[in-house]
Amino acid sequence: MPRFLRRLFSDKGTTHAKKETSSVPCHLAIIMDGNGRWAAQRKLPRTAGHQAGIVALRRTIKHANEMGISILTVYAFSTENWKRPKPEVDFLLRLPNEFLKSDLDNLHKKNIKVMMIGFMEGLPRHTRNAVSEAVEITAKNTGMVLNFALNYGSRDEIIAAVRAITQKVADGEVNPAQIDEQIISSHLFTAALPDPDLLIRPSGEIRLSNFLLWQLAYTELWFTEVNWPDFDREHLEEAISAYRNRDRRFGGIKL
Ligand code: FPP
Repeated sequence: MPRFLRRLFSDKGTTHAKKETSSVPCHLAIIMDGNGRWAAQRKLPRTAGHQAGIVALRRTIKHANEMGISILTVYAFSTENWKRPKPEVDFLLRLPNEFLKSDLDNLHKKNIKVMMIGFMEGLPRHTRNAVSEAVEITAKNTGMVLNFALNYGSRDEIIAAVRAITQKVADGEVNPAQIDEQIISSHLFTAALPDPDLLIRPSGEIRLSNFLLWQLAYTELWFTEVNWPDFDREHLEEAISAYRNRDRRFGGIKL
């Protein structure tokens, strides 16, 4: 990454006085990117990168939970990922089952609540069943929320919200003059969740890739060149340390 971008996004090397904001982000969102490149660098098939991605996810859940993060949202499969070759799509859509089969007991013991955002109906039955079961079993847990974005795409989410709201207008339930941020937010998959405070994207890509476009309006962004399978506690700590030093003004000014 060019140095000026690294400075912009990592907060390393900035010379102005740092300000402590809140300790850890309440809601952390992660685009788990770079599995394919991690595998290619090792002359391994892409699927090996995704397997290593599961290990990084397991680690990150543990670290985020220990650090006191309340909500961890991870982008696991996008509405655009269907464009990949079918064997890779099939592999990716088996990962939730595989992960939940091995980890659900532990997540439940740790009081973690599993949630999902995305178009559930478009997923294969085995993926739906695994996720629904995890959501049901952990529904009453009061600890960290582990939120999987699966078959998720922000533009489609917004389109669905617009359709639902316009239907309510047509039915006379909503007056167009009442449509505000709160009404739109309440029709998104994330209705029950606060907006992310911090977004992390590994792998050196600096874009949002149709992830939480509405919800990220005032989220702090942090990018790193490390590929997702290599993402570890030190990277999470670096991101959180950068977050702590951000001056969040939400469009206002500090008086
Ligand atoms: C993007 O990397 C990653 C994905 C599309 C899949 C993410 C899945 C995991 C990290 C495994 C854990 C998931 C669950 C649900 C347990 P890429 O394949 O686009 O990498 P590349 O850009 O280097 O090709």
